[in-house]
Amino acid sequence: MSEQLKMYRLSTTPFTELTLPEGYSYSNYRNESDKLAWVECCKDGLVADDADASVFDKRESAKPHINLEKDVFFLDYNGEHIGTCTAVHHTDNNEGELHMVGMKTEFRGKGLGKYLNNIAVKKLLADGADYIVLTTDEWRLGAVKSYLSSGFQPVKYDIGMVTRWEYTLTALGVDECVMLNDDRSVFGTIHRRNRAKDDKIIRLGVLGAGRGRTMMEYCKHGKNAKIVAVCDFYEPALKDIRKSFGEDIALYPDFDEFIKHDMDGVVLANYANAHAPFAIKCMENGKDVLSEVLPVQTLKEAVELTECVEKTGRTYAYAENYCYMPAPREMRRMYKDGLLGEFEYGEGEYMHNCEPGWHRYTRGLPEHWRNTMYSTYYCTHSIGPIIHISGLRPVSVTGFETPCNDRMKRMGAKAGHTGMEIITLENGAIVKSIHGVGCSKCSIWYSMYGSKGMAESSREFADIGGVRHLHAEYDDTDVASEDMTHHKIDCDPKDELSEAAGDSGHGGSDFYTSYYFAQRLLGERNAEIIEIYEALNMFLPGLFAYRSILAGNNSMEIPDFRDKAQRDKYRNDTACTDPETAGDMLIPSYSKGDPEIPEESYKIMQEKYKKHLENK
Ligand SMILES: NC(=O)c1ccc[n+]([C@@H]2O[C@H](COP(=O)([O-])OP(=O)(O)OC[C@H]3O[C@@H](n4cnc5c(N)ncnc54)[C@H](O)[C@@H]3O)[C@@H](O)[C@H]2O)c1
Repeated sequence: MSEQLKMYRLSTTPFTELTLPEGYSYSNYRNESDKLAWVECCKDGLVADDADASVFDKRESAKPHINLEKDVFFLDYNGEHIGTCTAVHHTDNNEGELHMVGMKTEFRGKGLGKYLNNIAVKKLLADGADYIVLTTDEWRLGAVKSYLSSGFQPVKYDIGMVTRWEYTLTALGVDECVMLNDDRSVFGTIHRRNRAKDDKIIRLGVLGAGRGRTMMEYCKHGKNAKIVAVCDFYEPALKDIRKSFGEDIALYPDFDEFIKHDMDGVVLANYANAHAPFAIKCMENGKDVLSEVLPVQTLKEAVELTECVEKTGRTYAYAENYCYMPAPREMRRMYKDGLLGEFEYGEGEYMHNCEPGWHRYTRGLPEHWRNTMYSTYYCTHSIGPIIHISGLRPVSVTGFETPCNDRMKRMGAKAGHTGMEIITLENGAIVKSIHGVGCSKCSIWYSMYGSKGMAESSREFADIGGVRHLHAEYDDTDVASEDMTHHKIDCDPKDELSEAAGDSGHGGSDFYTSYYFAQRLLGERNAEIIEIYEALNMFLPGLFAYRSILAGNNSMEIPDFRDKAQRDKYRNDTACTDPETAGDMLIPSYSKGDPEIPEESYKIMQEKYKKHLENK
């Protein structure tokens, strides 16, 4: 869940006391009888519809720093309390805090909010506060507008805030405003998006016309996004796009021209080891990013990407679609609802015999990323869902890899056919993740044990739906007894969103990455995107697992990239299998040294790819 919007009003911002319209007056909290009136003012937004006076005690009376008679205000109309706000002065840091600003429903939309803000600001200025802070939500548009006109300014204190504020300005029809940093220095002027107030369609560009077609297919039916431009330097791919998606999409062979196109966000579906430099260019050019797997190639890129997301305030979403497959989605819901208890052990598998399609995936190029990646690189399909379900950070990993088998050599892939990560999470839970492209059979499978029960997807070959099907068994308590009730689930989980996802690719999961990305840009704060820190929590175990393999399966610590001090150590770490990026930190793609791949293998792949193009 993302943080709320935050606003500051500096004491240096000019203040004008407003005169109340006829019939209106202010009062302060006096006695018990005001509690219910306060609750009535806060209903329909701030407190539940059936709230009673005890809510006032929880939210206000119980807080030691609040002086009810001084800090809780009412706006009155003909003697009736119709609005309220609380203005607290924290003397320890000289901060003013404005909260619980509520208005009875029938008095909303009349421009009365500014009087509540005005009385609170007047009080806190008189108290001598250096600044006033409040938090709010994108959907409280009337309130946000009123705060802006009362001198409050947006604060860039969490990732994605610039994007969120730009769309809030758009929805308000406000052209621009000055945004502050969390330390109250000026971040800069931010502007509304180039669109009408009520335009609810995000304009996307796509880099990479292979997998990128998935997001384009989404936009054919999705109601919240449309594709306006596509970039690919491979001519036949662009021609295919023209044929399948018509004349309305601008096509670019060159990224530097493409990025100038008027669009809100870019889907990065270019090479899996080249996402970070493009993500950074996009964000620095004011575009939000939906990045295909994987997020980065090196730790240096991980530092640069993280700091770009933090610095620009843009939205970065990681398209790890496997998190949204039906069984993992339901497992997440069950886990968040507490049905499975505390997470203790989990497994994720993404075993994919890619031999039949390898000529299409690599075009027979010996240096294609799929041929040069190490065994534990492509790890987020297996690790991602477990991280997303548990919400826990990986802290250490031990890696293993199988040999580079004959299948890999026939494909031209220079790595062990399967990689494995044994990961310890921050609460001590263990995750086993395996994934490979050169195994004999395919398996996408997730399981997790909590302190109260376990849940897993069905096995692909069991022919009952694979990741569309869920089995679970859990108890009401984690203390087992002979007569306890066990809850059993055996179902194909469905809800409104999965109905909308229908049979979109990868077990319906391809729908969600695009859908949530567009929803987030449109102001849905809790749209379930995977942000940069979570993306790295899914990726870093694979990177460090390979270091573990190269070091004889020693356990490796995984840094927390939220912490600048921890990531500092990796600022110049370019170790990877791509010579251009690695420089003098080049590592082999196979732990036992680069395997001998017969030249013939690539020739066969190129021939097959040629035939594939001819038969299209
Ligand atoms: N999430 C999933 O289920 C899933 C499935 C398949 C692929 N992917 C990911 O999608 C991405 C693309 O994979 P793919 O299967 O399309 O194969 P790919 O990586 O071979 O294709 C990438 C496409 O991008 C183009 N491209 C690369 N660099 C470019 C640049 N600088 N300028 C313009 N065009 C450029 C290439 O010509 C190619 O058409 C990869 O990151 C891959 O990991 C994800």
